[in-house]
Amino acid sequence: MTEQPAPENPEGDEPIKQRKNGLYPTVSDELAASMKSGWADTELRDLRPIEQAGEAAARRAAISARFPGERLVIPAGNLKTRSNDTEYAFRASTEYVHLTGDQTEDAVLVLEPSGEGHTAAAYLMPRSNRENGEFWLDGMGELWVGRRHSLGEAEQLLGIPCLDVRTAADALKALDGPVRIVRGHDAGIEAALADRTDAGRDDELKTALGELRLVKDAFEIGELQKAVDSTVRGFEDVVKVLDKAEATSERYIEGTFFLRARVEGNDIGYGSICAAGPHATTLHWVRNDGAVRSGELLLLDAGVETHTLYTADVTRTLPVNGTYSELQRKIYDAVYESQEAGIAAVRPGAKYRDFHDASQRVLAEKLVEWGLLEGPVEHVLELGLQRRFTLHGTGHMLGLDVHDCATARTETYVGGVLEPGMVLTVEPGLYFQPDDLTVPAEYRGIGVRIEDDILVTEDGNRNMSAALPRASGEVEAWMARLKG
Ligand code: GLY
Ligand code: MN
Ligand code: MN
Repeated sequence: MTEQPAPENPEGDEPIKQRKNGLYPTVSDELAASMKSGWADTELRDLRPIEQAGEAAARRAAISARFPGERLVIPAGNLKTRSNDTEYAFRASTEYVHLTGDQTEDAVLVLEPSGEGHTAAAYLMPRSNRENGEFWLDGMGELWVGRRHSLGEAEQLLGIPCLDVRTAADALKALDGPVRIVRGHDAGIEAALADRTDAGRDDELKTALGELRLVKDAFEIGELQKAVDSTVRGFEDVVKVLDKAEATSERYIEGTFFLRARVEGNDIGYGSICAAGPHATTLHWVRNDGAVRSGELLLLDAGVETHTLYTADVTRTLPVNGTYSELQRKIYDAVYESQEAGIAAVRPGAKYRDFHDASQRVLAEKLVEWGLLEGPVEHVLELGLQRRFTLHGTGHMLGLDVHDCATARTETYVGGVLEPGMVLTVEPGLYFQPDDLTVPAEYRGIGVRIEDDILVTEDGNRNMSAALPRASGEVEAWMARLKG
């Protein structure tokens, strides 16, 4: 990285937002004068609204109706320091993205009560000032971080008035009346509103926004399908390089999938779990630094996040050498049967918990049949004894967040009923820990999970990730084809 030059006139005619280190070398008057002029007008005109502008407006209208007469403040969040003066890649808050379709760092959406509803405004960082040197002297200047949209351009794209975010805190402080903010994203705006907000009331806003995302609109379903389709290609990429992973480590798998995610989407939607051999029994194995061995299984749980930030969440458990051993197949087929039972229970009007119960019953039956748990099955299920080996819930809502809608109330989510437009994962698994003395030695260190992304339709469901084979024989044939 390059050390930044100093502001020649740090006071300028507008404040400089961020200066790093205070260790600026001097800039000559001649250079400062030179940098002020000679730049073309690059303003973009006649921009078309972003594709989801209409859906975002409908989402804002829904949350407006839920909180009549109250000002609602939804920040996108700020950059987070990784080390010294480097930052993590920015990822805007899910709530802000859902209500705007925008992903600008530091932005704040304000819904202002107006008549029966609200008017929306987005506070954004405008183009960098060239007169005061901000654009090249400031660490957040466009010369360093890239061109931003002007406020006029942003208005055309988002379909709402856009204002300078540096005025947001003062503007919000100056306004009277009830206000709620989505906490946890922007400490500065929260502090500005601290004496006017209340944690309990703010939580209600976050809860309502989580519940607003339970049912996806047509745009969101399209984006989730794109995420899944890219993810399918990422899994194919991995199968093609398993020999290279064997020669190196799980990192080769992580890097291969990441390449697909970065080229086709924004990122991965969560840390890829590239778990070979006994690592498959660690539910969130993301160190991905282990050996990949022929004869063992690879549990790959990964999802591409689209440019609009919708993520897939898919798992396949693959034989590294292309063929399941007898015991691996027995366990795999049991998980497959369990997943089939779970998917069959996904339909409108079904209780959310039904697919979990259906999947767990199959797994409990298998564990009793194999002599790993003492029956009867009803007794096992009643006491939850199968959970020593099934470990986690059988699925969750999927959307902008991999575990989407987490702030929704129990009665609307886990205790609720499935509706068309909901998208959830069905992901049963069986895991035999390497040090589990209650199972025969040959089971130890085997972990199998199969995870698909399921859309609830008007008359049942659609498996959005059906393009990836699931049945053991089909997985083997698919791997053989890809490895060619
Ligand atoms: N990848 C996290 C999960 O499957 O829920
Ligand atoms: Mn999942
Ligand atoms: Mn997963």
